[in-house]
Amino acid sequence: MRVLVTGGAGFVGANLIRYLLASAPEVEALVNLDALTYAGNLHSLDEVEADPRYAFVRADIADRAAVDALCREHKFDVLINCAAESHVDRSILDPGVFVRTNVLGTQVLLEAARSHEVPRYCQVSTDEVYGTLGPADPPFTERTPLAPNSPYSASKAGADLLCRSYHRTFGLPVIVTRCSNNYGPYQFPEKFIPLCITNALEDRELPLYGDGMQVRDWIHVRDHCAGVWAAATRGRPGEVYNFGAGEERPNLEIARRILSALGKPEALVRFVKDRPAHDRRYAMDAAMARDELGWRAAYAFDQGLEETVAWYRAHRPWWEAVKSGAYRAYYARQYGDR
Ligand code: NAD
Ligand code: DAU
Repeated sequence: MRVLVTGGAGFVGANLIRYLLASAPEVEALVNLDALTYAGNLHSLDEVEADPRYAFVRADIADRAAVDALCREHKFDVLINCAAESHVDRSILDPGVFVRTNVLGTQVLLEAARSHEVPRYCQVSTDEVYGTLGPADPPFTERTPLAPNSPYSASKAGADLLCRSYHRTFGLPVIVTRCSNNYGPYQFPEKFIPLCITNALEDRELPLYGDGMQVRDWIHVRDHCAGVWAAATRGRPGEVYNFGAGEERPNLEIARRILSALGKPEALVRFVKDRPAHDRRYAMDAAMARDELGWRAAYAFDQGLEETVAWYRAHRPWWEAVKSGAYRAYYARQYGDR
């Protein structure tokens, strides 16, 4: 199989590429298309760079000519779109780039998949498109109406609807996956879990929005990657598949666990101003992925969090370069400073 992964220098994309090259022998060629925004970090792929099946192309998913040329050259069997602006807080500060990449960029990819007759298109989406749950509500299913609350989740919902329309209107074989909050190696330390771990390692405060009692359904990124590949290769075109591990935890509990795992004082927890329109609770019903794809999360949260804390402890140069901005110097050398 010839696979195009977009956004492969980001957290989910890099883990997906590592997962595919290690565990999917059917993958004979894998191209990673990434614009290398602030969130793209090729150091997350250092170990696979020399793999003869792997190639990197720096391009923007919204650049139609670049995407077209790549599809024409490689005749992909599967296109998996992980490229996105992904951070809710940034979408509140600057929504425009979210619409450009997440909505327009997705449309460019869909159009390229259509004109080059790519047999499988997988859109990596998020539970955030469903909005928020009350404490006693049942988890989101694939039939829950979309009700996004942030510019980020609205742009992802827009992309999901474009995917649906390309399937309905043009018969494009599109599969949408929606996953809950991921954690694991190579996550940009603006996101909650790596932010807490790396701040704790530096004896800095852990900022908790509002009362810290917002709940997320945490899933290890490798479980997400296995689900994406199962859906991309075996999912029914036109369908949506939810992934979640059933591991609901309030943020405050996670911060406390991280501090305890690192032997740091609870006094490092600092309650700060809440995020506007902060979703209170997410939870996913993953029954459809289990029944149709035979997928289930392999990681228990306790084990996954422990391994993740150990990973950040052991990979200090990776996250220190991100936090200091030094990782950008690598691109300036390789690709010129853009
Ligand atoms: P990320 O921010 O870590 O990575 C995004 C990647 O996309 C970066 O490498 C960046 O350089 C690249 N990119 C951004 N704009 C681009 C453009 N215009 N053209 C090409 N590349 C571009 O994000 P992530 O956490 O890896 O999320 C990836 C996808 O997975 C997103 O669509 C997100 O909605 C989805 N998702 C993430 C999670 C999670 O918890 N991280 C959960 C569910 C779904
Ligand atoms: O649910 C899937 C989504 O998970 C993905 O679609 C997004 O791309 C990803 O960023 C993530 O969104 P969240 O907003 O849930 O993740 P974040 O890590 O930003 O925040 C997790 C929770 O922690 C949330 O309730 C906000 C809170 N938080 C976050 C930060 C950065 C804090 O309390 N303090 C913080 O400093």
